[in-house]
Amino acid sequence: MKKETVLSGIRPTGYLHLGNYFGAMRNYVKMQNAFNCYFFVANWHSLTTHPDTKALQESVFRVIAENVACGLDPNKVALYVQSDVPEIAELYLYLNMLAYKGELEKTTTFKDKVRQQPDNVNAGLLTYPVLMAADILIHRAVKVPVGKDQEQHLEMARNFAERFNFRYGPIFPEPQAFNFGDNLIKIMSLDGNGKMSKSENQMATLYLADDDDAIRKKIMKAKTDSGPTVPNSLKPDYIENLFTLMRIVSKKEVYDAFQENYNNCTIRYGDFKKQLAEDMVAFIQPIREKAAAIQNDKVLLHQIMKQGAEKARESAHATLQEVRKAIRMIY
Ligand code: TYM
Repeated sequence: MKKETVLSGIRPTGYLHLGNYFGAMRNYVKMQNAFNCYFFVANWHSLTTHPDTKALQESVFRVIAENVACGLDPNKVALYVQSDVPEIAELYLYLNMLAYKGELEKTTTFKDKVRQQPDNVNAGLLTYPVLMAADILIHRAVKVPVGKDQEQHLEMARNFAERFNFRYGPIFPEPQAFNFGDNLIKIMSLDGNGKMSKSENQMATLYLADDDDAIRKKIMKAKTDSGPTVPNSLKPDYIENLFTLMRIVSKKEVYDAFQENYNNCTIRYGDFKKQLAEDMVAFIQPIREKAAAIQNDKVLLHQIMKQGAEKARESAHATLQEVRKAIRMIY
């Protein structure tokens, strides 16, 4: 049976964190055997915020290294850099003709960026969801493992695909956001303010590159409260977030024990955080060390990127041929 096609991407705008890992990369690794996978570094998307491009370049290497360190096998998946696949830019152009200013202006991420960078509201920012749709549709992917924050972009990608199909013929399947059986994930910041993110409050964000002491310090500072007073009460979201992290990095018995302590109101958050910190150190340490070693091996990195780009371009070229045929852009 033909494997379903999967695609996802990460912007190289900073150090990867646990939100990226649990919202996205963990699923990439789980999907790599059973699906036909394309994973990439979205360096074109990063240009919308005018980063220092020297730092961006190093960040691209780091994201590739971190993906491999987390368990992605470049021989099983196509792991590539967006700008190495120019076919995406051509599809972006066609899709731009089907995307409307009104809907783009209403996108939540666009509105956030207008607030954050009022002096740089460029057209690339406005059409960010169109480029993202091109990333997905260029491989005719059907499953897109992402965190909750990307849900609206996926909905827009489906709209663009549908509009294209309606106007030019049935070329694209409709891609769906994916997370194994569960709802999409949102890892909150450790201070309880919004989602964990690459650029906001660094003390409340656990990076895959953090050293052991930083991990301990950040977790011990995570927001808690005086604890539950009524048995089996609902957890506030910042406590739920710490339990989510514990469920992922700690042994089941450990998680269950703290869960029980919470339910019978005997939990001591100091002990809880100490345990979480140690389990988190044990989880992040091997990833950090492996990623650093790969990042220093530029020969290996270039080889991975080249191999990934070749696989991605083959698939992208095939789609683009169909697209051109459908639009009658062949003479
Ligand atoms: P980016 O780089 O912001 O994030 C990469 C992935 O990590 C997920 N994520 C989170 N998940 C849970 N909790 C969090 N706190 C958290 N923070 C980030 C994101 O949902 C994402 O899956 N626009 C995309 C990159 C992109 C893309 C694509 C993704 C470009 N083209 C095509 C999928 C398909 C972005 O900025 O992700």
